[in-house]
Amino acid sequence: MRHLITPLDLTVEETNDLLVLAEDISKDRFRYSSVAAGKKLATCFYEPSTRTRLSFEAAMLNLGGSVLGFSSADSSSAAKGESVADTIRVISCYADICAMRHPKEGAPLVAAMHSGIPVINAGDGGHNHPTQTLTDLLTIKALKGHLDGLTIGLCGDLKFGRTVHSLIHAMVRYPNVRFVLISPWELRIPGYIRKDVLDANHIEYKEVDVLEEVMPELDILYMTRVQRERFFNEEDYIRLKDSFILDAKKMRYAREDMLVLHPLPRVNEIATEVDADPRAAYFRQAQYGVYVRMALIIRLLGLEVPTC
Ligand code: NCD
Repeated sequence: MRHLITPLDLTVEETNDLLVLAEDISKDRFRYSSVAAGKKLATCFYEPSTRTRLSFEAAMLNLGGSVLGFSSADSSSAAKGESVADTIRVISCYADICAMRHPKEGAPLVAAMHSGIPVINAGDGGHNHPTQTLTDLLTIKALKGHLDGLTIGLCGDLKFGRTVHSLIHAMVRYPNVRFVLISPWELRIPGYIRKDVLDANHIEYKEVDVLEEVMPELDILYMTRVQRERFFNEEDYIRLKDSFILDAKKMRYAREDMLVLHPLPRVNEIATEVDADPRAAYFRQAQYGVYVRMALIIRLLGLEVPTC
């Protein structure tokens, strides 16, 4: 039995295989419409979500399976004090696979250790978000054609943004990838990622706090929201929340083929005027998230893929 807790739980070959399968699904979704018939996905969300939970549910429904679950800690037995370990033991009796989001780092890993079914980490605190990363990789591969040789600007809350952490883990495994880390000083990338991931893999990167200056060198600009729920005080959040706002004027500095990605939800960090720019790919990115989750469910459940 396999779980997906961090992007490194998949080898590069397995990741690439998922992307190929997801691209195939995107071309002919209906061919896969009964692949998971009779299977159930449990979505156990202890933290708010729109895209991740609903795209998991859409993915399972597209495969002909069914879904059950809860969308807040208050509506689960966590409110009565039940542990994640006990909850997953019980969910294992009701479902074939589980997607779990939790505000505590490591909670889905604990679940996986006590689970009778595959557990997918759908976001754990400020730690990891591997299925958002698969979504990001598929978007880049589909729209750029390749994952190697790219300069990726990561902008915003690099300290608490779990999507950024997972994306770095995954992208350093592709050749000649370079990062430009754009954030206020207080929201810089955590030291463990700088040391254990970037430095350990001899990855070229620089840290800056002005977006305009680095725009011309980027192939991808990955914008992120300042993660209000992980701040210790509201004053710091208010001071930092509008540090970077991408607007049409700043987009003039970007290459014609640069892509703007964002895991969403956006707050203020991308002005809505950018949405009409052909380089804005964040809504297409949300669509790719369904295809890649369909591919992931197929592989983790070991389902037969129709050949024609
Ligand atoms: C992200 C998350 O939950 O980490 N959202 C998502 O899953 N698409 C990003 C965020 O909340 O800022």
